[in-house]
Amino acid sequence: MAFMKKLPLLLLALFLTACQQDTAETQSKETPPTPTPTDFIEELWYKNSLVYSVDVEVFKDSNKDGVGDFRGLTNQLGYLKKLGVETIWLAPFQPTPNRDDGYDIADFYSVDSRLGTDQDFDTFMKQASQQGMRVIMDLVTNHTSDQHPWFQQARKRADSPYRSWYVWSKERPKKWDKGMVFPGVQKQVWSFDKQAGDYFYHRFYDFQPDLNMQNPAVQREMRKIIRHWLDKGVAGFRVDAVPFLIEIATPDFDPENPEHQFDIITQLHQYIQWHKRDAILLGEANVAPDEQKPYFGKDGQNMQTMFNFFANQHLFYALATGETKLLRKALEDTKDIPPTAQWAHFLRNHDEIDLGRLSDSERRKVYDRMGADTTMQLYDRGIRRRLAPMLGDPRLVEMAYSLLFSLPGMPVIRYGEEIGMGDDLSLKERLSIRTPMQWSGGLNGGFSEAAKPVRPVISRGPYRYPVVNVAAQQADSTSLLNQITRFAHLRKQCPEIGWGKWKLLDTGSEHVLAIQYSWKGKSLVMVHNFSSEPQQCQLTTGLKSGSSLVSLTTNKTSRAGANGVYQVPLAGYGYSWYRLQRD
Ligand code: GLC
Repeated sequence: MAFMKKLPLLLLALFLTACQQDTAETQSKETPPTPTPTDFIEELWYKNSLVYSVDVEVFKDSNKDGVGDFRGLTNQLGYLKKLGVETIWLAPFQPTPNRDDGYDIADFYSVDSRLGTDQDFDTFMKQASQQGMRVIMDLVTNHTSDQHPWFQQARKRADSPYRSWYVWSKERPKKWDKGMVFPGVQKQVWSFDKQAGDYFYHRFYDFQPDLNMQNPAVQREMRKIIRHWLDKGVAGFRVDAVPFLIEIATPDFDPENPEHQFDIITQLHQYIQWHKRDAILLGEANVAPDEQKPYFGKDGQNMQTMFNFFANQHLFYALATGETKLLRKALEDTKDIPPTAQWAHFLRNHDEIDLGRLSDSERRKVYDRMGADTTMQLYDRGIRRRLAPMLGDPRLVEMAYSLLFSLPGMPVIRYGEEIGMGDDLSLKERLSIRTPMQWSGGLNGGFSEAAKPVRPVISRGPYRYPVVNVAAQQADSTSLLNQITRFAHLRKQCPEIGWGKWKLLDTGSEHVLAIQYSWKGKSLVMVHNFSSEPQQCQLTTGLKSGSSLVSLTTNKTSRAGANGVYQVPLAGYGYSWYRLQRD
């Protein structure tokens, strides 16, 4: 009876559920599901792109004046293409007094006349694009050169509209000697300007006054600069000194603990994409993992990509000691980024290797192995050497490049590293690793036919140009250049690295790093031995038995044992790239 009483209610409930289902079905027919980032990840070019960092001034001189130029670079596009380069990153090339290798800009809108004309730049852009390469450039708007007309006007008159484009203080700020980026060389961050009669703020050298990013006029100008170069075809910017660009600098702020204004990056991101949908920001921000989140932004609304300085320092620790534990941790600590974001990994860049985030004893171990002499060290935190002389053993250099191409991110190579160039420690600070490109055994290493090149070409020691040069390495199938070219091309067949999910695998050896990538049912396993001794490692990939690891380099296959474990033998500093195949 009770059931009979409830019947009308039950019928009503059934009717309502049917109606709901009906509406849901009609809705799903009419409204397509909202796309998730994984639906379009393959379209994000920066997920998988080989970036080549070049300094036009020292790459190739075409007019025999001793200075590299855009015409010289344009003539070498075929070389870059063959190497497998997909994106060229240009170091600052605008007019400059050149006291910080071009990072002291005196005019943001043109090309330094020593490097060529605006037309030469346009021709370079056109030809790079015809060869299918993108170009990104440095965006150095944290500061200007003190020779920039804005600063010249600002210091001349207190009522100049440019005065508020910089950061001033009437009194010497309390923390005038705190927070220097170049300790040991730079003495302060606030300097007195006689002409202005005030102190000005400079996070870097005293000839690089910081722009006042709090001033809307400065932000407007920054957008204008961006627009100018986007219109000329660049695909994005390597944003210089991001944490300093967005710090809120005032006379009483604490340079060692500044506040940051992240919406400046959000606006930049929006502005760039409004003009060019797939343009990117690649941030230089050497921050700790617990600080990284706002740099990428919620849902990736800030930087699309950043250099992984944190992993880099632990990578050097692993290369120096043969132990992978801290590198594994650093990779895990920096794993959590938005799905549309990407890390950029590198071995060497144009600056010193910054080891500032290692403990003193860890840093000491890297120094002992790679830069024991104090002339090799810089700014109390790093090493001013190129990779090949630092690592010494060619097997280790090759393994390091194999690793670079198989880390989760986009690989960035510094010019000259692909042939294992050396350094010149007689040059000051970071100039030691900024010597001219060594193209051949000819005059000035084929860089320039001038009597005196802009910077001396390395002509003594084991890395001298008659020994280390492009022509010789092109002719030798076992050379580093050819090996790196093979890595670059192999990487193009492994898009899982940029698009997929990754995890570290247990290897049974503290010297071996193994990363597994998975993307749409495909899987890769990359294994690297950081020890000079052979290692027998055991890999568990998490798949049931019935699969094989097929080497992408040798085509050899290894099958899992009944327990699902693969036995992978590795030579000293050996490495292997495998694809996992289900039988
Ligand atoms: C960045 C550059 C460095 C330069 C500095 C000041 O850190 O990488 O080379 O000296 O900014 O612009």
